[in-house]
Amino acid sequence: MPDENFHLPQRGFGNTQRTDKWWIQPLVVFCVLSGFGVYATWAAFQGEHYFSHANGEHYLSPFYSPLLYGEAGSPYWIGEGVPGWWPSFLPFSPAMLILIGPGLMRFTCYYYRGAYYKAFWMDPVSCGVGEPRKGYRGENSFPLIMQNVHRYVFYPAAAFVMVLLYDGYKSLWFLDDQGVSHFGIGVGSVVLIMNALLLGGYTFGCHCARHQIGGYLNSLRGRPIRSKCYGCVSALNSRHMYWAWVSLVWVGLTDLYVRLLSMGYITDLRITF
Ligand code: FES
Repeated sequence: MPDENFHLPQRGFGNTQRTDKWWIQPLVVFCVLSGFGVYATWAAFQGEHYFSHANGEHYLSPFYSPLLYGEAGSPYWIGEGVPGWWPSFLPFSPAMLILIGPGLMRFTCYYYRGAYYKAFWMDPVSCGVGEPRKGYRGENSFPLIMQNVHRYVFYPAAAFVMVLLYDGYKSLWFLDDQGVSHFGIGVGSVVLIMNALLLGGYTFGCHCARHQIGGYLNSLRGRPIRSKCYGCVSALNSRHMYWAWVSLVWVGLTDLYVRLLSMGYITDLRITF
């Protein structure tokens, strides 16, 4: 709870006695998040080359999974093309329905909030650096109070990880010329499975997951399974920032890999049995 009587030291916006290069970290955060946002938006609206299957592989971009509505020949769940209920004046892409879950997870993540508040609107600028305003209101009023939705976004995000693991499993099976499925491992399989594992590390290290798994209890004594799970989630949680960045970069690279393969710009190295 913010202290109503608390006042920040009176210091002009951006003024500081810090001598280190404190501005590098927010600048890097700004560049990486902006770059990812531009690429993910382009990839989501592009609506093509999200599924590679020309040489018997089954590689689906994570931006489009689960594929509820897809193009002919893609592994869609519900139907082909544009759903009938979609407003005709809006452009449609299968990825738009999906990015809402993982996108909200990242946008409301406790770690990312700390990072992008500094990087994008400089409030706060950084520790020990002059604030743009004199009081501190926290996240207790609109619109930032909406960030509390994070505790509920965890559940759909966890379901997305399960779907991506299934995609990773599907990527281990390749069709030959007769349409017979063979087990194998391709570079794409490694990329897709790594993507699911990294996103799992990020998602299950969420502070909300830690709370749900046992953090809300006063004691875990006499609950060995829950205690083990709590220990695992806590271990992931202690490195949440690293999981956040590595999984973010990897999911973008995974989409890029599937896209380039589907467009015929690269070849997938693989062994099949
Ligand atoms: S706190 Fe980062 S995903 Fe929940």
